[in-house]
Amino acid sequence: MLKYKGILFDLDGVICSTDEYHYLAWKALADRLGIPFDRERNNLLRGVSRMQSLEIVLQKADKTYTEEQKAAFAEEKNALYRQYLSQMSPRDLDEDVKNTLRTLRDEGIKLAIGSSSKNTPFILERIGLDRFFDAVADGNCITHSKPHPEVFLKAAEMLLLDPHDCLVVEDARAGVQSALAGGFDCAAIGDAKDDPRAAYHLTRLSDLLRCVR
Ligand code: BG6
Ligand code: MG
Repeated sequence: MLKYKGILFDLDGVICSTDEYHYLAWKALADRLGIPFDRERNNLLRGVSRMQSLEIVLQKADKTYTEEQKAAFAEEKNALYRQYLSQMSPRDLDEDVKNTLRTLRDEGIKLAIGSSSKNTPFILERIGLDRFFDAVADGNCITHSKPHPEVFLKAAEMLLLDPHDCLVVEDARAGVQSALAGGFDCAAIGDAKDDPRAAYHLTRLSDLLRCVR
């Protein structure tokens, strides 16, 4: 007997290590502007939109910037980020992730992506998963990014499933909050692993197989 009919995966930091590329691209921008930025600060950007991430980076700046400058900074960061993404291939899909996704699908569970990223279609194509998921809800189809539950509610709706029948998998504290606000159970991994609000704490994605059975 399976506990969930659907699983909604965050993308960056859960399905692939693109969270590292986000960090490197923000770090390059922050260094160029002389703004202090480290991995701890980067954890605050997990799950939140590009512009909100920029605002968090700029909180440590000693001057203010115009909206036009901010738009240019976001564009600069995204261009660098996409350079990293363009070098990705299906080889960047971790074996543990690949096997877990296949096993879950073979067990008849519906699988979806729920990500704040507007680069989701590009990333899925790079890692060879562009036709794998039953639904993809991403930064291109939402008004509010995490911790708002919109992206996961949309993904569940695309799967024609009730939130109570779905499990969210997240590496962001904002994402865990988003799952709970939407009425979903949450499995936390990576930076969010020890978040007490999560129902399950995963060391690797395959630990999920024990949570759904
Ligand atoms: C989320 C990341 O998945 O996507 C955030 O965790 C990022 O760090 C957000 O800011 C938006 O990403 P993008 O690719 O649209 O800039
Ligand atoms: Mg993430």
